Amino acid sequence: MTSSTIAPPASLSANDPCWCGSGRKYKRCHKHLEGRIVAGEVSPYRPVPAHIPRPPYAETGIPVRWDEPRIKSPEIIEKMRFAGILAAEILRKAGEKVAPGVTTEEIDEYVHQLTIDADAYPSPLNYGHFPKSVCTSVNEVICHGIPDSRALLDGDIINLDVTCFINGVHGDTNATFLVGNVDPASRQLVKVTEECMWLGIESVKPGRPFSDIGKAIETHAKKFRYGVIRSFVGHGIGEQFHTDLQIAHYFDPRATTVMRPGMTFTIEPMISLGGWQNKTWPDHWTAVTADGKRTAQYEHTILVTDDGHDVLTAPGAVSPSAPWTR
Ligand code: MF3
Ligand code: CO
Ligand code: CO
Repeated sequence: MTSSTIAPPASLSANDPCWCGSGRKYKRCHKHLEGRIVAGEVSPYRPVPAHIPRPPYAETGIPVRWDEPRIKSPEIIEKMRFAGILAAEILRKAGEKVAPGVTTEEIDEYVHQLTIDADAYPSPLNYGHFPKSVCTSVNEVICHGIPDSRALLDGDIINLDVTCFINGVHGDTNATFLVGNVDPASRQLVKVTEECMWLGIESVKPGRPFSDIGKAIETHAKKFRYGVIRSFVGHGIGEQFHTDLQIAHYFDPRATTVMRPGMTFTIEPMISLGGWQNKTWPDHWTAVTADGKRTAQYEHTILVTDDGHDVLTAPGAVSPSAPWTR
């Protein structure tokens, strides 16, 4: 199946007739799309072995929301630590695959295999009918890029967003990787976006309002005149991939809800070289910057503790003695 938007731009001169057949000059028609990401072919659905427990949306594609407690039990938190470490390890390994010439499809295949090898379910697969097991977002793609036949080019930046479902809970983490030689402006964007995420994480403290997180992120991004994407936010997470809790990455004075020990949510700022506005491709998933400027993203799943926070998606060893690890 093709999720294609626009045919690849031919190498035309500005005054030539546009390749699309509009009869207009190329420069007045499609020239502004030069260098933009073009969708490739999306391969068929990858099966998950029957013995792996699935989240409720896996069969239908429709996430059914229920009123999950915001403050998690110690048992759920232990399970989330495991899911988080697994997601972090898979993200780290997937990142090692990133290189010029590799297709996002190949990265998806690898993430899918690593996930099912761990007897986990790749949370993106069929979530709201998302067709693949990881999100791959290249250059101006903000998030929710669908892995396809497009090969990475030297100079691209790519975000890989890995989420695992195991023991009834999700762990969600992402990072942006450089493909070969990347220009200094994009490299700085990627570095500052990671700093934004950490500043957001460091602001997590019990008793503080959620607006502190967006304030810390936006303050840092503004120093570089970067855009902070507004249409996509961090989210409560646990037994559900996304709960009703939303975490803006910009300062929103209305975000007065207070952080409490036991809460679990993601912080996942998307920062752009241009404006904050986004558009969505006809595939209904791929979110791109409206101005075509590049964006980067980093994400961790966070637990509020009695005196601050824990990062649940840091790579590390999983205790083999945990009773629920098979
Ligand atoms: N992992 C993404 C997030 O950080 C959500 C992806 S939804 C999908 O919230 F369906 F695209 F996978
Ligand atoms: Co998330
Ligand atoms: Co994610």
